[in-house]
Amino acid sequence: MKFSKRHIVKSLSWRFIGTIDTFIFAYLITGDIQHGINISGISTFTKLIWYYYHEKLWFKSKVENPNRRHLIKTFSWRGIATIDTVIVSFIFLGNPFIGLKIGIAETLTKMILYYLHEKLWYKINFGLDKRNKRKFEKFKSKRMQPPSNKNIFKQDFSITSLDRKKRLIQNPKLIWFTGLSGSGKSTLSNSVEKLLFNEGFYTYALDGDNVRKGICNNLSFSPEDRSENIRRIGELAKLMLDAGLIVCASFVSPFEKDRSVVKQIVGADNFIEIFVSTSLVECEKRDTKGLYAKARSGEILNFTGISSPYELPLHPDLKIDTAKLSIEESAKKVFSLIIDKLKN
Ligand code: ADX
Repeated sequence: MKFSKRHIVKSLSWRFIGTIDTFIFAYLITGDIQHGINISGISTFTKLIWYYYHEKLWFKSKVENPNRRHLIKTFSWRGIATIDTVIVSFIFLGNPFIGLKIGIAETLTKMILYYLHEKLWYKINFGLDKRNKRKFEKFKSKRMQPPSNKNIFKQDFSITSLDRKKRLIQNPKLIWFTGLSGSGKSTLSNSVEKLLFNEGFYTYALDGDNVRKGICNNLSFSPEDRSENIRRIGELAKLMLDAGLIVCASFVSPFEKDRSVVKQIVGADNFIEIFVSTSLVECEKRDTKGLYAKARSGEILNFTGISSPYELPLHPDLKIDTAKLSIEESAKKVFSLIIDKLKN
């Protein structure tokens, strides 16, 4: 079993404070120095173990607000520590109530000390390996962001989205192509944009590979980063829609919750979902970028369809399998689905 240096040192540093505090209260309650030494001494060992595992558990916790985190943690530890003191006092003095009395008496001081100890350790990076350090830093920087945008005020401009919509004589919409890598999303999006452009519509194409070279070039393919990728695209598309454009967006977007975030950002009425349902077998056979081979050999991790899931769209507006239909036919199908919705 691998023990964490951080948790061990943190356990010891808290135990130092905790033991002195317990000793003082055990002495005050029992009036006997030996009882004080026994109770605080024995519980030092048991509490070290509980504390270590409590830390381990909390390290994985998703409670992000620092004050809330420290506070809940303080309460959860107090519960465990008090039970421990009661058991130790029962074993040593044959009386669990002395332990309970000590536990109650020391609650306030211990909680304050524990909270401060947490606050201090929160600033210390000791024992965090590279991966955890990154996780922890991210965790911290997230916490530094204001919980609400209360100091940000929406500015109104004279030219509204309605004015732009009227000028361009079109209804801005987001046409969202989702599907596996190699399913034909980008090719289809490209063809649909061409059809629309040639009809006189004002369009823009957003694509996974391109966006990941720019605005999202700091994101990986972990589920969290994919969510952030899709959220940013949603916000970007919202601005483009506000500018009056018809946006064709081709992103793997493998998670249903991320796709519904986009739908929510741009408004359900403006969101048209096209599921490019080409099968994994077909996509892998095509392997135009050689990525499936790399994913199979383990060179690329978290690859959608191989080592990362793709959640099927629940209610797509259209489903297209580019193994069964040519790109021209597929593009025409999309075109006829959306054309009436785009006319203003
Ligand atoms: S998404 O999952 O966050 O929506 P996105 O559409 O931006 O993905 O990018 C997908 C493109 O990146 C694919 O077309 C593929 O070429 C490439 N890619 C590289 N690594 C991966 C991976 N692990 N999973 C999926 N696509 C990948």
